[in-house]
Amino acid sequence: MKSIYMDHHATTPLDPEVLAAMMPYLTEEFGNPSSSTHEWGRRARKAVEAGRAQIAESIGAEPDEIIFTSGATESDNLAVKGVALSAAGPKGRIITQATEHKAILDTVRYLEKVGYEIYYVKLDSYGLIDLEDLERNITPQTFLITIQAANSEIGTIQPIAQVGACAKAHGVLFHTDAVQAIGKMPINVNSDQIDLLSLSAHKIYGPKGVGALYVRKGVKLAPLIHGGGHERGMRSGTLNVAGIVGLGKAAEMAHRERDQETRRLLKLRERLANGIRAKIDQVQLNGHPQQRLANNLNFSFAYVEGESLILACREVALSSGSACTSSSLQSSYVLRAIGVPDSLAHCSIRFGLGKSNNEEQVDFLVDLLATNVRRLREMSPLYDMAREGIDIENFSWSKHDHEH
Ligand SMILES: Cc1ncc(COP(=O)(O)O)c(C=O)c1O
Repeated sequence: MKSIYMDHHATTPLDPEVLAAMMPYLTEEFGNPSSSTHEWGRRARKAVEAGRAQIAESIGAEPDEIIFTSGATESDNLAVKGVALSAAGPKGRIITQATEHKAILDTVRYLEKVGYEIYYVKLDSYGLIDLEDLERNITPQTFLITIQAANSEIGTIQPIAQVGACAKAHGVLFHTDAVQAIGKMPINVNSDQIDLLSLSAHKIYGPKGVGALYVRKGVKLAPLIHGGGHERGMRSGTLNVAGIVGLGKAAEMAHRERDQETRRLLKLRERLANGIRAKIDQVQLNGHPQQRLANNLNFSFAYVEGESLILACREVALSSGSACTSSSLQSSYVLRAIGVPDSLAHCSIRFGLGKSNNEEQVDFLVDLLATNVRRLREMSPLYDMAREGIDIENFSWSKHDHEH
């Protein structure tokens, strides 16, 4: 069987329809959308505005509320730093939570260093935020709440409409990183009362290096990139026309196909989860059992090192967590934040289903996992000890070392 890609939280392949929409703007339609004096420029501008309208439509926004960026990392930075720099001076408070993407966590850590106060909302063991804790910790200094719509490792979906209502009731701005949620669940900036929203093209079958930030009319944002005053002064730089056309097309398709594709993914997800549970013992699901992305599963296979299992199952592209940290051997900060013990966090694998996956591939993967988990456990003294009833978490290794 050909290699199978099952890491769609890290990135997705470019959809052929998206590529077809982009092609003219990579070739003959090379105009600069800021050149209003000739038809090349005007045609490029028209394409950019069509992309803007497609993105706006997919989240219930107005086209002039969409700012193009180089991706969601920049969108997250622009939302959080942009609001911070234009609103409260240092000492203002931002509320977020510990399982955000690094694009948020590192940004708020930076702001903390220069004097802002950051509060991390309490999470339960599924990674769901505690809404009462959120509300209790809104102070008069609080100017921004940033809570992701869905998590890229454990798939947990946050109650963003309730966060939006809470932020609104207290006159605080609400930003959500919706990168993983777009195309997987309905999001509407008006009914969910969202003021700022980040999205990225390459997670929804669009090209890499382009994203957008929704900014509600009236919200003031200081630019991070100064220059020619593009994007109403909020993000200077000649626009990535082909990328924007691709993002627009990808957003339009994600919106159109969402319900049908989500139903299909849910069935595949259940088949994979049931298969794993039926064929492998001592597995733990990380994240929420129901309130999770239709394409996400995250399992810990006790007594098997996650990286070893991924290497053993090399016919399938899998990962143990976010792409940015998978090169380090540290266990996932997301799993640690929801209280998964290190011994199980090291045994975790994230499954990211997508458009190209089907039942046959899922069944193949289940058998591959079962075979390799069995093989790796046969080599594991920990597994033998556990089967003999020894409590490994509290086992004193040094004592036994001395005895032998
Ligand atoms: C939740 C989330 N936010 C932000 C990003 C960053 O997006 P980009 O790769 O477009 O910078 C990612 C991608 O890993 C993500 O999963």
